[in-house]
Amino acid sequence: MTYEYEKVITPSSGLRLHLNENTAGCSPRVIEALRRLTRQDVAFYPGYDEVVAACATRLGVEPEQLILTNGLDEGILALTVAALRERDATVPEAVVVVPAFDMYASTAAGAGARVVEVALGPDFAFPAARILDAIGPHTRLLFLTSPNNPTGLLIPRADIVRIARQAPHVHVLVDEAYADFSQATLVGDPDVAALRNVFIGRTFAKAYGLAGVRAGVVIGDPSAPAPLRRVVPPFSINVCAAAALAAGLGDEDYYQWYLAQVRSSKTLLYEALGKSGIRFWPSEANFVLAYFGDRASAVVDGLAARGVHVRDKSRDPACPGCIRITTGVVEHTQACIRALEEVLCGAA
Ligand SMILES: Cc1ncc(COP(=O)(O)O)c(C=O)c1O
Repeated sequence: MTYEYEKVITPSSGLRLHLNENTAGCSPRVIEALRRLTRQDVAFYPGYDEVVAACATRLGVEPEQLILTNGLDEGILALTVAALRERDATVPEAVVVVPAFDMYASTAAGAGARVVEVALGPDFAFPAARILDAIGPHTRLLFLTSPNNPTGLLIPRADIVRIARQAPHVHVLVDEAYADFSQATLVGDPDVAALRNVFIGRTFAKAYGLAGVRAGVVIGDPSAPAPLRRVVPPFSINVCAAAALAAGLGDEDYYQWYLAQVRSSKTLLYEALGKSGIRFWPSEANFVLAYFGDRASAVVDGLAARGVHVRDKSRDPACPGCIRITTGVVEHTQACIRALEEVLCGAA
C-alpha cells in the first residue's frame, strides 16, 4: 500500500468548511504585527526568544521543553525522522490508528517505515489493547490524535499513559492539534511529564487562525526535544510566522471569542443533524463528523454546488459514509445548515 498525501482540492470561492481552518481569519493583532515588520526584519534571519517565551508561557511549560516547527506537519516530520534515525537491518514500523490525519502514514512511509494500521473500535472507541498488540520490537512510532481528526473524540488519558509506559522504546506523538477546542491536554500532566517517549504536538493553525503562516510546536520532557532539534532546521519558522504567533498568542479576547463561536456552531449543527435524523459524533474539536451513508458523496456535491465545501470522508474505509464539517463562525455554520437542509430536501 502506498501512503501518499492526497492533496485536497481547494475551491477558489465559497465557504471553506473542508480543512478545519479558522473561518473568521486570524486576530487583527496578527495583521498589525505583520505590518510592523521592517525591511531589515525580512532581510535578517529571525530570532525566536520572544515567541518561544510567549509560547512557553501560554502552554505553561519551560522554553527548553518546546520546539517551534513550520506547522505541526513539520513536527510530525521531525519526530518521524528522529524516531527512525537509528537503523539496523529491520524495517522500522509506525503504528497509525485509523481513521487518522493522512500525514502520519504518508510521512512515516515516505521516511521508510512500514505503516501498521489499527482501526478504531465500534463507534470509534479507542482500541488501547489492540494498539498494544500491534506494537512490536520494531515499532518506533505511534501516532495518537486527541481530539481525533476526523471523529472529534478524545482519547482517554489513562490509555495514553498506559500505552506509553508499556512501550518505552516507541516515540509516541500525541497530536493535540484541536486541544484548544476541547481544553483537555496532556501538557503539564505529571504522569506524562515523567515519560520521556511522549511528545505532544500543537498547531496554531486552528484556534489562532495561522494556517497560512505555518506555526506549530512539539513539547516534551526538557531532554526529549534534543533529537528533534537536530533535524528541525535552525530557521524553520520564518519571520512572519514568528511575529504572527507572538501577536496571536497575546490576543486572549479573540481566542476566547473564537472558541465560543465554535461551541455555538457545534450546538447548531447538532440540532440540525438531529432534526434530519443524521447520525453524528459529538465533537471536542472545531468540526463534526456525520454519517450520511450512500448519500454522502451526493451531499458533498450538493453542498459544493451551493458554495459550501465540506470534507468527503466517505471513501475512507475507516469511516465509510461519513462527511466532516468544520464548525467555525456561527454565521458560516448557519449558511452550511441552510444549504444542507436544501440538499436533504432535494430542493434545486
Ligand atoms: C490532526 C492534525 N495534526 C496536524 C495538522 C497539521 O497542522 P499544521 O497546519 O500546523 O501543519 C492537522 C491539520 O489539519 C491535523 O488535523
